[in-house]
Amino acid sequence: MAVMREPRPRPLPHGPLAWMGVYRDLASEPIDTFFRFAAASDRALLNIGTRRMLLISHPDDVAHVLISQNRRFHKGRALRLMHRVLGDGLLTSEDDFWRRQRRLAQPAFHRQRVAQYGEAILEVTERLLAEWHDGQERDVARDMTRLGLSVAGTCLFGMEVGDQADVVRTNLAAAMRYGNRIIKAIWPPPPWMPSPGRRRFEEAARHLDHVVFDIIDRRRRAAADGAAPPDDLLALLMEAQDDAGRPMTDQQLRDECMTLLLAGHETSANALSWTFYLLSRHPEVAERLRQELDGCLAEAPLSSERVDRLPYLRAVVSEALRLYPPVWLMVRESVAPFDLGGDPYPAGLQVLISPFVVHHDGRWFPDPEAFRPERWLAGAKDDRPALAYLPFGAGPRLCIGRPFALLEISLVLATVLSRWELSRTDAAPVAADPLITLRPRGGPGGRDGLLMALRQRHVFMA
Ligand code: HEM
Repeated sequence: MAVMREPRPRPLPHGPLAWMGVYRDLASEPIDTFFRFAAASDRALLNIGTRRMLLISHPDDVAHVLISQNRRFHKGRALRLMHRVLGDGLLTSEDDFWRRQRRLAQPAFHRQRVAQYGEAILEVTERLLAEWHDGQERDVARDMTRLGLSVAGTCLFGMEVGDQADVVRTNLAAAMRYGNRIIKAIWPPPPWMPSPGRRRFEEAARHLDHVVFDIIDRRRRAAADGAAPPDDLLALLMEAQDDAGRPMTDQQLRDECMTLLLAGHETSANALSWTFYLLSRHPEVAERLRQELDGCLAEAPLSSERVDRLPYLRAVVSEALRLYPPVWLMVRESVAPFDLGGDPYPAGLQVLISPFVVHHDGRWFPDPEAFRPERWLAGAKDDRPALAYLPFGAGPRLCIGRPFALLEISLVLATVLSRWELSRTDAAPVAADPLITLRPRGGPGGRDGLLMALRQRHVFMA
């Protein structure tokens, strides 16, 4: 069953002014445009004015860029444009500075350490569910943002920030929208040039700064009052010193905290929203998942260890991340010449990798539009190349938060699904909004969000 895209067979633009058509299509329908180019070639060159971009869609080429030749690439233009918001945090920094910061933050994301966050995740989920009522219609995407922020705040920064969810959600969307407009512009204006869009972006960035500086201030005030620092990521960052024994500057601390707060909640919230949406359209999958959950909960309450042993739940999550990868596009810029399958390419090329496009390729996933968790169960045929599936990226820049995200998504999904049935009152498919992340447009009036009707289940739990 088709989950979102209608095929749009349209010829590739050609002729001397073809780039204008590409530009128009990319600006209005980026995902469909990428599909058309990818269908024509695994290495499709997109020329827009003087800008040249290479869309690569074969997993072997993706492996060359992200893994074997990764040192010839930096992050692309898209993320650099978000520098005002993300600064030089883990997502955007490069080379030796990035390596140092990654080493520093890594201990907070080790599997055993992450398992300890399970109780906090369950607690935050319970607090959210206490607000849900039978028969209510709610914007579940908004709820998942609040939950994601609370979880990131509690686990990484040792404090509650869920009450800032609306501020973060709207201002992050405004910043991403502006970033997207500039990325697609043929002649992007310099950052110092005033414009209403730039002003809105600056304002959004200031709101986000406020949230993050408040987190750092609150911790410093607690330390000044003599409180022992909690054993969390913020403490790791604040205690870190460089080779000369200097701590991070306030700006570095702000950049890392902003990156982790934004990267740590937006993607997981998207993944959860899309999973609820897919389950509402596939009641047979929801039913099978509930059977697995009911069996598990009849024995003992949920925990990090127990949720790890639910194969169908894991398969549902994997399949939802395949169909709606929250990071739908990754961009790299070559800083040195590179080659793909013997073909040489120059430095300075923007290389586009779309997990969305790769994940919908029928060569690796037969009937690619179908939501079929069975693909991921033990015994299913699995002869696809490793990078045919890359919701968390790959290589040295692999998502640092992967174990954390998988634990959070699994625990929240299991808790919600075992007690609630979520359905859409509007039967029309929900469109995906390809901002820097892939958000659902199923809110009131087809805007950002995901409205769902809630029905409480009555089940026995240990
Ligand atoms: C479903 C949830 C998530 C998805 C789909 C996701 C996806 C990704 C992807 C694709 C990348 C690589 C980007 C690139 O190579 O250009 C990435 C990087 C990153 N993610 Fe995630 N992520 C998720 C959750 C999280 C969480 C929960 C955190 C933190 C708590 C996090 C923090 C980061 C950071 C800091 C990076 C940059 C890592 C580096 O370059 O060293 N992510 N993520």
